[in-house]
Amino acid sequence: MNRKYRKTVIAGNWKMNKLPSEIRNFAEEFRTLIPRAKWCDIVVCTPAVMIPAAVRAFKEGKVAVGGQDMSAHPSGAYTGEVAGAQLVDAGAKYVIIGHSERRQYHGETDEMVNAKVLAALGSKLIPIVCVGESLETRELELTLDLVTYQVKRALSGVAPEQMRKVIIAYEPIWAIGTGKTATAEQAGEVCTAIRAVVRAVYGARIARSVTIQYGGSMNAANAEELLAQPDIDGGLIGGASLKPEELAKIVLAANQE
Ligand code: PGA
Repeated sequence: MNRKYRKTVIAGNWKMNKLPSEIRNFAEEFRTLIPRAKWCDIVVCTPAVMIPAAVRAFKEGKVAVGGQDMSAHPSGAYTGEVAGAQLVDAGAKYVIIGHSERRQYHGETDEMVNAKVLAALGSKLIPIVCVGESLETRELELTLDLVTYQVKRALSGVAPEQMRKVIIAYEPIWAIGTGKTATAEQAGEVCTAIRAVVRAVYGARIARSVTIQYGGSMNAANAEELLAQPDIDGGLIGGASLKPEELAKIVLAANQE
């Protein structure tokens, strides 16, 4: 973390879990567990249909709400899709783009991810852009090549002034939902490389202002060590964000001076 230059952002990714009716209890319990003075931003990304209930429930705790995906199109005949403007109108401030589960199960390409990033920014949503390698890519020692490509491709056409609104999440696929976390050094190395890519394209000042998260089996036990890496500015947290006490502990780890 480096709070002098950029925000620390702890974001829960609930994936396809929980019911709208379960949010209020979660939010009330969570609020009792987190400190009043927060040095990090907290976001919970829910299924689109749950966003209005989440916005209401989390308002008092100053927890922002995000979507988990959006259409690259502004509106029209795209049955089943959700537009950025609809997320915004429902109260979302963030949206996850290009999560590996979208890439893997829904055929999202780097080109589609790029189109969605541009659409999110156009809708004034903060995109949390996910990149990360498979185990095979890591074993072939192609991680930095792949992640560099993914970042450049995802950000193609993003203007410098928009870049300050982008969050990048490094999520090694082999660490997601597996209980296998990247070591703090492995995660830190890739996040540093991501910042170098942003620096090469946008310059030093913008690069040091961009929040880069780590995601992949982050939990209350390993958060502090991961967040101690200079280029890891927060987390995108799946499993551990489903329990208020676990998510609160990660917030506390991010809240240390
Ligand atoms: P996990 O998921 O924390 O359950 O590994 C992270 C993510 O997929 O964003």
